[in-house]
Amino acid sequence: MKPIRNVLITGGAGYVGTLLTPQLLELGYNVLVYDTMYYGCELKPQDRLKIVQGDIRDTKFLKENLWGIDAVISLGCISNDAGYELNEDLSKTINYDCFEPMVKAAKEQGVHRFIYASSSSVYGVSDAPEVTEEHPLKPVSLYNEYKGKCEPLLFKHADDSFTCVTIRPATLCGYSPRQRLDLSVNILTNHAVNNGKIVVFGGSQQRPNLHVQDMCDLYKLLLTLEDEKIQGETFNAGYENQSIDDIALEVKKVVEEEFPDRAPIEIEHTPTNDIRSYRITSTKIQQKLGFTPKRNIGDAVRDLCKAFKEGKLPNSMTDEGYHNVKVLKSKGIM
Ligand SMILES: NC(=O)c1ccc[n+]([C@@H]2O[C@H](COP(=O)([O-])OP(=O)(O)OC[C@H]3O[C@@H](n4cnc5c(N)ncnc54)[C@H](O)[C@@H]3O)[C@@H](O)[C@H]2O)c1
Repeated sequence: MKPIRNVLITGGAGYVGTLLTPQLLELGYNVLVYDTMYYGCELKPQDRLKIVQGDIRDTKFLKENLWGIDAVISLGCISNDAGYELNEDLSKTINYDCFEPMVKAAKEQGVHRFIYASSSSVYGVSDAPEVTEEHPLKPVSLYNEYKGKCEPLLFKHADDSFTCVTIRPATLCGYSPRQRLDLSVNILTNHAVNNGKIVVFGGSQQRPNLHVQDMCDLYKLLLTLEDEKIQGETFNAGYENQSIDDIALEVKKVVEEEFPDRAPIEIEHTPTNDIRSYRITSTKIQQKLGFTPKRNIGDAVRDLCKAFKEGKLPNSMTDEGYHNVKVLKSKGIM
């Protein structure tokens, strides 16, 4: 395996990238964050960190920045259904059309490892008890569909000089300096802490989750593993599958412990037509790569509570900046 020292993260100014980048610097990597900065940028240039405002659709400019890079972590995209649906044509240019040109540019510039963040939502809705990586992809949204369609475009270019791996993460949760409060556990926690109430739509639907710090630990691990272990492989990455009802109860319990003065947190149920339910099995990544998430949903809720107490998430009920779709709309990006 060739050594990896220089890492380019597309979308590195987002929720995951902002948490991951300082940790990579700490480990001694040189990092280049390449991002349109749709949601701003909490990272500051520093020794071994280069921050470039750039668009992955601008293959020429991206290619210039890929010179000397050993590994790409591909996070940049319109990262949820709601954002994608604001302008489906434009979203497709970001989430799909430019993907293969980006992969080719990386390979041509001598990048030797490409890590792609797909999504566990590619499976769509399934009541199968075990949703392994072999489960057919039955996407229920264009976001899911194009996340999945990029995967073979990456693997097409894999060879001895270019190691390619796809991760299908569960929905993430927890604190990051670029906070998203539009992800299920984070939404419930925000409402519990700041409104004293959680509204659950339906409740029996199953959802897999993963702590955002475990996500970062996985990307760090993927930079260190031997090529043979990951070449051409796809891995689910989730902690546990829980029903929305169970998640709401866990959020209630932790928030009541952290903010006893706000107890009891009320849980209100509202019927929904959206009974989409899915689960994933993450046994392969455990067995093949030895990756086991170390944090549960309660830990994510506790971290968010700490951030609220420290005043790191001001105006969380009103500031649109915490919601990707609202930012894309209000800035006229979509
Ligand atoms: N957050 C989750 O729950 C979750 C779950 C599964 C998979 N993923 C995937 O993980 C990745 C990271 O997720 P996240 O929550 O950090 O997303 P995010 O929306 O917080 O970050 C994405 C970043 O990409 C940037 N970006 C968007 N279009 C771009 C373009 N054309 N060129 C360059 N940069 C662009 C944005 O400015 C943003 O900073 C995404 O690919 C997402 O699909 C996330």
